[in-house]
Amino acid sequence: MMIPVPIGDLDPAARFAMVSWTLAPRPIAWVTSLSPDGTRNLAPFSFFTVASTDPLVLMIAVEPRDDGGRKDTLANVVATGEFVVHIAPEHLVAEVARSAEDTDPSFDELADLALATADAEVVRPPVIDGCLAAFECTLLETRQPGRETLVFGTVVAAHAADHLLAPDGRIRSAAVRPLGRIGSVFLTSRQIDSRGARRPVAHSRP
Ligand SMILES: Cc1cc2nc3c(=O)[nH]c(=O)nc-3n(C[C@H](O)[C@H](O)[C@H](O)COP(=O)(O)O)c2cc1C
Repeated sequence: MMIPVPIGDLDPAARFAMVSWTLAPRPIAWVTSLSPDGTRNLAPFSFFTVASTDPLVLMIAVEPRDDGGRKDTLANVVATGEFVVHIAPEHLVAEVARSAEDTDPSFDELADLALATADAEVVRPPVIDGCLAAFECTLLETRQPGRETLVFGTVVAAHAADHLLAPDGRIRSAAVRPLGRIGSVFLTSRQIDSRGARRPVAHSRP
């Protein structure tokens, strides 16, 4: 039996908890960006999805800071028009968690975590080595339907870990072990149910 939830009457924290624990598991966008003075920034966002596949557009929803200001990622993306979305592997869970700590805009999370990076192909923010995938994005637009600011990024280049790519360019689905989010905790993919799996095709659709 389903019980009605008075979602419109819930206080914002309870409403947040309801969606955060039920719209789950969510993928995590681990986002690098640069401030206008070139300081590197890294932060995770699980209110994250594909907004379009043609062209490929990704979307993250950025909450305001507790003081009402903009988080560094949003400020950087609006100022520079560029960011890189990474899909982190499970073993980097501690690094993902630490990169979410509230720090001064001059703090370089990539240096703090000693994460190795490489130059991106098109944009200026760096690509983190060892992630499952990385999507270089240029800012398409921001929208503010409510509390969060939606950031839409057009993917201008993409990277995948070599162990995920088969020689024919397909993704080895069994090798994908992403980190996810349920509510305020992390999720790993130790148990994957492959009953719904379709035959791999070069350009599979969801
Ligand atoms: C796994 C995870 C997912 C998160 N998802 C979001 C999110 O979707 N939106 C958001 O605004 N903050 C999210 N946060 C919190 C931000 O990562 C955090 O506020 C961070 O300090 C922002 O960094 P910045 O100021 O450098 O942009 C998440 C934190 C974690 C650990």
